[in-house]
Amino acid sequence: MHQICVMEIHNFSAGPCILPPEVMEEASQAILDFKGMGLSLIEISHRSKEFVAVMEESRSLVKSLLGLPERFDVLFLQGGASLGFLTAAYNFLPDGGAASYVDTGTWANKAVKEAHHAGTAHVIGSSKATNYDRIPALEAMPSGSSYLHYTSNNTIFGTQFSAAPETNVPLISDMSSDIFSRSFSAEQFHLIYAGAQKNMGPAGTVMYAFDRDALGKTGRSIPSYLDLSVHAAKDSMFNTPPVFPVYVSMLTMRWMQSMGGVAAMEDRNQRKANLIYQEIDRNGLFEGHATKESRSTMNATFRLKDAEHAASFDALWQDAGINGLKGHRSVGGYRASMYNALPESSVQVLVDVMQELERAH
Ligand SMILES: Cc1ncc(COP(=O)(O)O)c(C=O)c1O
Repeated sequence: MHQICVMEIHNFSAGPCILPPEVMEEASQAILDFKGMGLSLIEISHRSKEFVAVMEESRSLVKSLLGLPERFDVLFLQGGASLGFLTAAYNFLPDGGAASYVDTGTWANKAVKEAHHAGTAHVIGSSKATNYDRIPALEAMPSGSSYLHYTSNNTIFGTQFSAAPETNVPLISDMSSDIFSRSFSAEQFHLIYAGAQKNMGPAGTVMYAFDRDALGKTGRSIPSYLDLSVHAAKDSMFNTPPVFPVYVSMLTMRWMQSMGGVAAMEDRNQRKANLIYQEIDRNGLFEGHATKESRSTMNATFRLKDAEHAASFDALWQDAGINGLKGHRSVGGYRASMYNALPESSVQVLVDVMQELERAH
């Protein structure tokens, strides 16, 4: 019998990204034979009782994991968070009205751009001048803002709001890259949306959680697919849903629940973040991109102080089985994405490699 030795890979990809191995296992099985039906999950009707059960469990797992108030509805739609930028504005920005936005980088900017299709988007804080290395201080909100939109975690720049901004207007947040990573209260939110491909599942679906009582107040006619009330009335089955991404999201949420829920994820994520940031601060060869107060627990951005070490560092981490560490082109350097499924041991391997580089110089 041949024994195949497979090197362990440490997946630091920013998204799509690592998912729990047990989820991959079960998802693979469902592709071959779903629930002993003799059929694949992806060849049965989305109206079958088997898939309807998947959709219902997925929606209810979001509610229980996030502890959403009873008035919230949950949907799994398509178009990614990029369509979410427009959907948010179409559903919550009154016709001819205004909303406030925080500019924390690429994705936040795109949200502002799309909001202009529906009304006025006031930017009340931006860290553009320092290449988005921090969460900016916010100016007073112009009167008449119907909500405040913020990107809770900035995947590219490695910054994260430590808590929701303090304001007396409803909140809307793009939580694509830190949903389920820490506890928060949804009480003040009108809408939370998140592309699945970080902490939830594969690319292909976006989760919307919203206060159903806040819908239907914009005075505009909304095209059907962009109208959250149309989807809510059809229990997220207005059209054919992305069956596989929803199924894998359900498995990942079951996994989170079995691990102790969002509070357990938060502990685990804090430990991983402490480990990497301690090393970035201690090791004289490296420096962080984000300011200390704005650091993300999901994406740690850092660089070599001396680019001459890049070739040896790159060889070291690649030899250690680390994948996906290159920073985004707008920041350069490195980005260690440490989503829920990434084990602490992978972060330790990265820290070991950083120390090895230090010893060699
Ligand atoms: C915070 C954030 N918002 C939005 C997006 C865009 O998501 P999508 O590609 O699903 O449209 C991303 C993608 O990485 C992201 O990180």
